[in-house]
Amino acid sequence: MDFEKPIIIPSVLAADFANIASEVKRAEDAGAQWLHLDVMDGNFVDNISFGPAMVEAVRRNTELFLDVHLMIQRPDHYLDRFIKAGAGNISIHTEAKYDTSIEATLRRIKEAGRSAGLVINPATPFADAQPFMHLVDQLLIMTVVPGFGGQPFMEKETMPKLAEARDYRSTKGLKYHLEVDGGIYPNTVGIARKHGANLFVCGTSAFGPKDMKEAMRELEAAVG
Ligand code: DX5
Ligand code: ZN
Repeated sequence: MDFEKPIIIPSVLAADFANIASEVKRAEDAGAQWLHLDVMDGNFVDNISFGPAMVEAVRRNTELFLDVHLMIQRPDHYLDRFIKAGAGNISIHTEAKYDTSIEATLRRIKEAGRSAGLVINPATPFADAQPFMHLVDQLLIMTVVPGFGGQPFMEKETMPKLAEARDYRSTKGLKYHLEVDGGIYPNTVGIARKHGANLFVCGTSAFGPKDMKEAMRELEAAVG
């Protein structure tokens, strides 16, 4: 696992859903290696996006690694559908309700041979994720309150936690990626990098501009 190499991950939430196959192609042509898929249930967050059928539709159109972010209640109840749809990584929130538990769900993701991610909201302390970090392949620190694209980066609330998660990893000799999601633009990506992130989810800043290749190049240049 390489935690040093930065990866810019376009978020499909900002793509044109009516032309998903060509949007996926646009991301591939722009040099994306991973795609981020935001699943929202209208309950855990105040927005409804898409479910496993979209993950499967994207899967059919690309070989890229699919980073699936579940903003849903009872992620353990729905888990198998996202595994079947072809998710590469599945990230679950510490704040969600579970039929079983966070730990059991992370273990099931790993047993299915997928990467397991844990997510904390801006208001959630790193301490809530800490007991699970030995089971986790990536920790996603939300840099906006989840639900909508295009919100501003919450630097003061989130960057100290990111640095804390990075320091915890080295103190304990653990292995996990550190991901940020929300408000990542050329002027914020370097701040997140400096605090330890190596995975950068970019919705508006990647899919928004007409020239996605140029947008990705700018983000890559700014990350350093
Ligand atoms: C926010 C989602 C994000 C979203 C980011 O609820 O989890 O992945 O796509 O969008 P931008 O990059 O526009 O802030
Ligand atoms: Zn997301």
